[in-house]
Amino acid sequence: MEELKKRAARKALEYVESGMRLGLGSGSTSRYFVQYLGEALQAGTLTNIVGVPTSIATEKQALGLGIPLVKLTDITALDLAVDGADDVDPQLNLIKGLGNALVREKVVESYAKELIIIVDESKIVDTLGTRSPLPVEIIRFESDAHVRRLADLGSEVAYVLDEHGERFISDNGNYIVRCRFPAGIADSYGLATTLQAMPGIVEHGMFLDMTTKLIIAGQNGIELQEKSA
Ligand code: A5P
Repeated sequence: MEELKKRAARKALEYVESGMRLGLGSGSTSRYFVQYLGEALQAGTLTNIVGVPTSIATEKQALGLGIPLVKLTDITALDLAVDGADDVDPQLNLIKGLGNALVREKVVESYAKELIIIVDESKIVDTLGTRSPLPVEIIRFESDAHVRRLADLGSEVAYVLDEHGERFISDNGNYIVRCRFPAGIADSYGLATTLQAMPGIVEHGMFLDMTTKLIIAGQNGIELQEKSA
């Protein structure tokens, strides 16, 4: 599995050109991409790249590799963002956030002209939510009330816990819960609209109509899918 993640990450590096402004994803597959990007900068095969990280973990990794970082406020757009995903459906819609970075990922990637998603073949599904629960970031104030509302939508909701068994606190100071929809998410656009209108919900992990390219690494090689306009 690690080998497949590495292959997908290496393939994504082929789309990076010197001078690009890049969104740097989070999670174990993205981590390989950031590592290869750092190596290419150190070797001089890529130059003049700046990145915007999608988590504190990615920021630390990028700084350790000498990748120059900028803020979204300093630029108008990103040429490309590269990130992993948890579920990918046939429309290239995604569930992301099992690495708990969904809010910053969505913010940063909304600035990208191109979003390349890198996955191993285990992430491909017919319907979002059949493989992964949907991560949702919620504010801490009255969090159990937000959880009750999420459960009323037909999901089984669980708080993400840290290594001490306490509720995990995100990079943004919020809780994250995971919503398991027993039959998957039949209407992802409808659910997204509902969640966006719920006070106390910061963001959900459905990334709809954002992917422009999908790189799938499988036992039989690399497959590239592109989103038609
Ligand atoms: C991080 O919050 C996530 O969105 C990750 O991109 C996603 O969970 C995929 O992670 P892996 O590459 O570790 O499977």
